[in-house]
Amino acid sequence: MDKPIFIIGFMGVGKSTQAKKIASKLGYSFVDLDKQIEKLTNRTISEIFSEKGEQYFREIESTTLKKVSSLKVVISTGGGTAVSSENLQFMKEKGIVIWFDCPIEIIVSRVKPSKNTRPLLAKIKDEDLATQLRTLLENRVPFYSQANIKFETSNVNSEKILKLIEEINRFN
Ligand code: S3P
Repeated sequence: MDKPIFIIGFMGVGKSTQAKKIASKLGYSFVDLDKQIEKLTNRTISEIFSEKGEQYFREIESTTLKKVSSLKVVISTGGGTAVSSENLQFMKEKGIVIWFDCPIEIIVSRVKPSKNTRPLLAKIKDEDLATQLRTLLENRVPFYSQANIKFETSNVNSEKILKLIEEINRFN
């Protein structure tokens, strides 16, 4: 069926890095939704948030998601893309949705260095980061958990990727 594959999940779980590998194993093309939005608007994600606000970003995110969802493509979405019933329903109807997840401690250590370039985190004090991330993640799990497949990303190796490809093929 060659349905599009949507990678969803929280910031810092390794969506883009692993999604690229999956795309190359399947012979699919790869799209990073945030990068696509930056290309189309000629603005960084931070600039869009600060100049036009989050609501505007969410609208472009949703439109761009629909534009890039063709056959034989692996799409790495942003951490908030699936936190919209409309986007989630669209992805589930169109293709296969995979939730990438890993322990919160790993997420905190991965996003800490890039905190200031992440619009949702830039204003949070370092000492509050772990608690705030934990709360944000908890609020988002009810959306992420509606994915077709869950994939644990703390120790990814080629064997784990092959198992995931087999699971994807069972859906296709
Ligand atoms: C966001 C995550 C970011 C980006 C934007 C909003 C979020 O993407 O889309 O800053 O709401 O979690 P990554 O998950 O790729 O960091």
